[in-house]
Amino acid sequence: MAFEKNQFDDIIEEFTVNGDTLHEIAADFRYDLRKGLQNPDESSLRMLKSYVGLPTGRETGEYLALDFGGTNLRVLRIQLKGEGKFEILKKVAKPLKVEGVYDFIGPDSTAEQMFDFIAELVDEAIDGDHTKKYLLGHTFSFPSEQSDLYNAKLIIWTKEFATPGVEGKVVNDLLKEALHRQGIDNVEPTAVINDTVAVLLAAAYKQPDVYIGSIYATGHNTCYLEPYADSADEPMILNLESGGFMKLVPNRFDEAFDQASEKPGEQRLEKMVSGRYMGELFGMALAELLGESGKSYGFTSIDMSNIIVDDSGNRQQVQQIVSGRTGRTLDLADCQQVQKLASTLVIRSARLVTASYVGIIWQLNGTDKALKQHIAIDGSVYEKMPLAKENIMQALSELLGEDSAVVDTVLENGGSGLGAAIAAAMSQR
Ligand code: BGC
Repeated sequence: MAFEKNQFDDIIEEFTVNGDTLHEIAADFRYDLRKGLQNPDESSLRMLKSYVGLPTGRETGEYLALDFGGTNLRVLRIQLKGEGKFEILKKVAKPLKVEGVYDFIGPDSTAEQMFDFIAELVDEAIDGDHTKKYLLGHTFSFPSEQSDLYNAKLIIWTKEFATPGVEGKVVNDLLKEALHRQGIDNVEPTAVINDTVAVLLAAAYKQPDVYIGSIYATGHNTCYLEPYADSADEPMILNLESGGFMKLVPNRFDEAFDQASEKPGEQRLEKMVSGRYMGELFGMALAELLGESGKSYGFTSIDMSNIIVDDSGNRQQVQQIVSGRTGRTLDLADCQQVQKLASTLVIRSARLVTASYVGIIWQLNGTDKALKQHIAIDGSVYEKMPLAKENIMQALSELLGEDSAVVDTVLENGGSGLGAAIAAAMSQR
């Protein structure tokens, strides 16, 4: 078969962000950032205070780091050595959900069960030793309202998490209680940070000129160091919860997808760009091309990545992936179109993410030239998705012009763990 040309072109058009729209989105992001600094209620950005600034790089000592942000839970014992150096002494990891075996993130689980499972993993990381004292830094990658570095209340689950009894609660209290239930009173949680904050702390621990930290993975979000230049306030990292940014141009696939999601109306930017959702949007568009609108084939962003990289003469990999998910066998021309569709979605994602970075850069610069800086990013989409990095660079140069020469992106791999340990160290200041 061959896809209908007009229909295909229309869909590509709907997923394309042209230069003007890119500028508008970056400007709107900056506007919401400013509004949010004055009054968060008037902004689609939550602008959550983290109660932490940048590390000095001289933080030292042994800490526990809990990384709780996706289905894979990790606990690390980390030795900070100062001068940006560190050593991972132990690392344990377990998924919060194993299909058909257990599920701590679904609506049938409870907060206690979830945190008991976490406490067990902490116990593994300290080899069951209930005597040596540890401070624990907790990277909790969901929107949380903080009143100090310890005290963070979950506002709302994202990434389709649905465990009842956690929203509205102080997550470190839930953790402390679970640790206590298991006799682990030698571990003291002292800091909670978002994963974007962890990425920024980890990157700034190792090098100067980093003010923006971002996650571009299953979920998406960005934080930055607000200098509070015109006030007496100390500089502080703000977690923008930029995945909730709304001033976008969603197409009908985005709208339909949002309506069918766990939390309609929330996380609109995240639903257009992150790994958790891109595969599904891709599947919705493909269903329309295959005359099966409304079908959900279960495509993932990993499928998209494998589709894009196939440069074999007959596009065999594309054909196999599509037929595995849809039961349909495509000819070469259609396989190439499928590749174009996947690429177009990735390029849109990278451009929208970059518009948000530039909104922040414009805000930091005021009317001056761009600050020399590295934007620290962690996450599988940034690290592994073909076309993502180069389209971020392309969009940076479109939006910043000459100034883009002083801005680049750096991969901060595993920043969530290291950042949590740094936050635990900083909690002692
Ligand atoms: C959460 C953020 C988090 C991001 C990346 C989003 O769903 O709301 O808090 O930083 O995912 O993990």
